[in-house]
Amino acid sequence: MIAVRVEDRAGACASFAARPGERLLHAGLSAGLGLPYECATGTCGGCKATVTEGEVRSLWSAAPGRRVCRRPGEILMCQSAVASETLALKLPTAFREAGEPASGVRVGRISGFRHLTREIGTFSVELDAPLRHVPGQFALISAPGVEGPRAYSMTSAPSSNPRLDFLARLSEPGGLTPLLFSSALDGCEVNVFGPLGRATLRPDDDRPFLAIAGGSGIAGMLSIVEAALAGGHFGRRPSRLVFGLRKPEGAFLLDELADVVRRSQGGLRVTVAFSDEPPGPGFAADFSDLEAAQGLAHEVVRADLSAIAAERPIVFVAGPPPMVDATMRMLVMEAKVSPAEIRFDRFG
Ligand code: FES
Repeated sequence: MIAVRVEDRAGACASFAARPGERLLHAGLSAGLGLPYECATGTCGGCKATVTEGEVRSLWSAAPGRRVCRRPGEILMCQSAVASETLALKLPTAFREAGEPASGVRVGRISGFRHLTREIGTFSVELDAPLRHVPGQFALISAPGVEGPRAYSMTSAPSSNPRLDFLARLSEPGGLTPLLFSSALDGCEVNVFGPLGRATLRPDDDRPFLAIAGGSGIAGMLSIVEAALAGGHFGRRPSRLVFGLRKPEGAFLLDELADVVRRSQGGLRVTVAFSDEPPGPGFAADFSDLEAAQGLAHEVVRADLSAIAAERPIVFVAGPPPMVDATMRMLVMEAKVSPAEIRFDRFG
């Protein structure tokens, strides 16, 4: 084990131990440190730090997030491992609040992959021990012989069950996801690192919420609404979910969302926003518990800014980076929501 010292922008210091080859971000989060990150998979650049003493080894030199590393010594903590006897890092930001529950590693087996559409599927991982998480979080899954971990959001609400359910989107060739979609990984042993993500519903949250999800960003929202339902949240705090999709053809999880709406007994309103085509006459007949609209998800939210001003809801945003960025801009500039009030996850 090698001791890693970290100093944040304000001069606060902490240290953690890292094994050779272990990702620095994983080692720090496992030690309960509030290190900054977003994607944890090398795409966003949100875990940048500067090496002030010692050396690191890059685990993915072509990581897209490295575009933010322009000065000597700048690294991505999620894609670097210690390569010297001592290591000291400087963060460009303050430490964040430590994640709760702390992250850790589990071993599990993939099971039950099911196609929802050509590009979207669900699967489960049976873990060797439960992994505590809070609604809205994700985990990294890596398989032997497959380069790099991939991030998947848990759709299941937290429980003591050692089985976790995930949603996957097939977006690019190579890596873990195409193997999931070909069922080549059924029964395969994998490593799971998590939980991760801060776009979460917390036990003491007692305000209405507005959840805005694009595409596979719905996964964590499903976990949030299930947990809110179980906790009686909607009886006290009526809330809203806006789910952005491209076309009615290829829509997914609508039966599950309609079921949650029914069980909320009027406490949860769900609007499905189709950006590329109108919902069509069949939608209302098939999903009478859901509302439908044409437009981007944030445009549908924009049509009712007075509700945000009146209710000051907790706001969750999850989806692809352009969708999250457009929604954040609208919320901050037009709805006057403080950025600190928005809990978001970008899925690149
Ligand atoms: Fe490391 Fe996104 S958290 S690049």
